[in-house]
Amino acid sequence: MAEWLKSDWRAKPRVQMPDYTDQDALTAVEAKLASYPPLVFAGEARSLKAKLAAASRGEAFLLQGGDCAESFNQFSADHIRDTFKVMLQMAMVLTFGAKVPVIKVGRMAGQFAKPRSAPTETVNGVELPSYRGDIINELDFTAESRIPDPSKMLQAYTQAAATLNLLRAFSTGGYADMRDIHGWTLGFTESEKAAKFRAMANRISDALDFMEAAGINSAHEHELHTVDFYTSHESLLLEYEEALTRLDSTSGNWLAGSGHMLWIGDRTRQPDGAHVEFLSGVQNPIGLKCGPTTTAEDLKVLMQKLNPENEAGRLTLIARFGAGTVGDHLPRLIKAVKEEGANVVWSCDAMHGNTIKSATGYKTRPFDSVLREVQEFFAVHKAEGTIPGGVHFEMTGQDVTECTGGVREVTEEDLSDRYHTACDPRLNASQSLELAFLVAEELSSLREGNEAALAS
Ligand code: PEP
Ligand code: CO
Repeated sequence: MAEWLKSDWRAKPRVQMPDYTDQDALTAVEAKLASYPPLVFAGEARSLKAKLAAASRGEAFLLQGGDCAESFNQFSADHIRDTFKVMLQMAMVLTFGAKVPVIKVGRMAGQFAKPRSAPTETVNGVELPSYRGDIINELDFTAESRIPDPSKMLQAYTQAAATLNLLRAFSTGGYADMRDIHGWTLGFTESEKAAKFRAMANRISDALDFMEAAGINSAHEHELHTVDFYTSHESLLLEYEEALTRLDSTSGNWLAGSGHMLWIGDRTRQPDGAHVEFLSGVQNPIGLKCGPTTTAEDLKVLMQKLNPENEAGRLTLIARFGAGTVGDHLPRLIKAVKEEGANVVWSCDAMHGNTIKSATGYKTRPFDSVLREVQEFFAVHKAEGTIPGGVHFEMTGQDVTECTGGVREVTEEDLSDRYHTACDPRLNASQSLELAFLVAEELSSLREGNEAALAS
């Protein structure tokens, strides 16, 4: 077989990518990006892959979350810190439920390009090209703003680099100390409606106190103080991805240098398309969104193309069907995976199948639907004897009002208060944490069920 080239995708049919009008400007941007340092390194991608391999065996659990779309306007240290903090809180709660390490992967430092359901958008009789994310064009509804501008890739690169710099500092600089993180979660469980989570929070507290008293903490000062935090995004804008792809001199493999883990969206997973072609050749761990229209046949072809060596940790299948329909779709895909004997991590994106329009006109997601999809995902895996390996959420550490429900009940009328997303509605900090407690309950009952089965 001919050697894979990072430009091979250019000969394949592409969807959901902009048609840049100024080719010279595009070429100049690509050349610049190609000369810049990669944002992530091969050893990091390899260590994430090893952790995901553990998740595929049920020895770790993946938590992937962050903005639907990162935005240039809302870029700030506080925003990054708050999302990082909520993810660590969620991870602590999940670790307690699962009794296995939780792998933390942000939809951060590169999540800029968005697939859209229609190429154009019409408002009051005016039709314009759709907004495709800040790395491509602008949200304002003017003809000028919607023109794809290649120089936005440079701004996205700079923002991603600064975001990663802060995440790396938070991860190792003491900000991620486990004992502090637990303190932060208490604010949530103190609320009256969150009373049912208090028992679990108290048990986490007791466990930490015990470790402190037994001197286990001081012996593991480094582990308690630092955290491995990875970045991920949808690999959609292939000019950007190609320009940041480098040969890893240690292994001789190609690495997409734009983020640790890249995924293929539900709209760009054509087995013979450009996106699959590109991701087939890089060594990063990759995700593949699986939706209601994913057939068992396509999935088999995709697994063969994306993970021909059947390497554990390479491929995460991210199921996103919508509450009430997981049982209609997931079993046939699990069957395809079993038939192929494929090593995959099964993760549940409980957001993208649950988007509705509220009576007040906002795109929203009911908290209960998100929770129900996760519960159905766990139930199907239990019935099939397979492993639910992770969850994927659109969330933010900010106190936004974008998804309805949760213990601090966001109503449809509240949506207009703090609706800040550049694309899809995200869980706010309190909803994210509540969901983590509920997923932890699922994980701990799964674990108890497994232990009981082993004992009998
Ligand atoms: C997303 O994750 O933001 C997204 C667009 O998802 P999907 O491709 O599953 O629709
Ligand atoms: Co989204």
